[in-house]
Amino acid sequence: MEIYDELKKKYEAIGQDVDVHLNGLLHAKPMNYWDFANTDALLSLQIQRTTLPDEMVFIMYHQINELLFKMILWEIEQIADKEDLAPAFFTKKLGRISRYFDMLSSSFVIMGDGMDIEQYMKFRDTLTPASGFQSALYRMIEFSSTELINLIDARFRDTIDRDTPFSHAFEHLYWQAAGKNFKTGKKSTMLTLFEERYMDDFIIFMKKYNTLNLWTKFKSLPAETQEDIGLINAMRHYDHTVNVLWVMDHLNAAKKYLESGKKTAEATGGSDWQKYMHPKYQKRIFFPELWSEDELENWGITNLEGHEIVESV
Ligand code: HEM
Repeated sequence: MEIYDELKKKYEAIGQDVDVHLNGLLHAKPMNYWDFANTDALLSLQIQRTTLPDEMVFIMYHQINELLFKMILWEIEQIADKEDLAPAFFTKKLGRISRYFDMLSSSFVIMGDGMDIEQYMKFRDTLTPASGFQSALYRMIEFSSTELINLIDARFRDTIDRDTPFSHAFEHLYWQAAGKNFKTGKKSTMLTLFEERYMDDFIIFMKKYNTLNLWTKFKSLPAETQEDIGLINAMRHYDHTVNVLWVMDHLNAAKKYLESGKKTAEATGGSDWQKYMHPKYQKRIFFPELWSEDELENWGITNLEGHEIVESV
């Protein structure tokens, strides 16, 4: 009866008769796994463009990445939208976000060792000028993790401050370097198509997260929580996983394929990829205030334990 009364209240509030809804339940189908996980829809999305079997590995692993990106954004959004952000809530969500990115990083070997080089070098020709660079969710994770200034190309940081229009800041994001000639302003097809599709959405998203990103939210926590060594280490772990470990795992996988021939292959997206992709050149860091000067200087050169990071050959 207690439940009945609660249901009645719920339906009355929206002008509905609870008994009609309960009668409906008499005819409702039982729930199945394939219904709640939507497996039919999900498993119909793997469509190859070639006859090469390993293209399927490439497609599915990208889709798995997108799902994990979505899980990460789901947690970040909850932190962003929480009004009275309690330290325990922040720490719990950060733990989840971090575990998902650990998974992205440690699983990258699925790319590195999971496809035959000869097959990859054939099916990639059907993908030009697409690139993982064009993953919108990856960019949204960046915008929502840190202040915009930390995503600006280091060469232009002095020209940008809080009063700079978002559209101007956008033109100087570090990743413009993958496809823009800063002297002529000319952009690669990969970058132009990406911006045509997402720029407006990104500007709206950047505005929202300008004040609600993880770093700003961390700084809104009580002073003693910001000193909590466990939380600081969790923040550092996340920063390092996204911006050094994942980047290196990704670069090493790319090298394995693109350097497999007699001469180094061009990236499908067309960037000067070896230089562009290495963390020591990009030096993108979400929470620079949590790193020592020495650590900042050696970003992408040494790991968290101070050992040199080795590039695979
Ligand atoms: C063998 C597999 C892969 C290769 C050879 C590869 C290669 C590359 C290259 C060369 C770039 C530079 C941009 C360009 O295309 O010119 C790039 C960027 C990127 N790729 Fe991949 N990639 C691989 C797998 C993946 C996967 C599985 C993901 C997951 C979504 C991914 C996500 C990205 C992202 C987010 C960027 C932009 C990174 C940045 O701006 O620093 N890539 N990739």
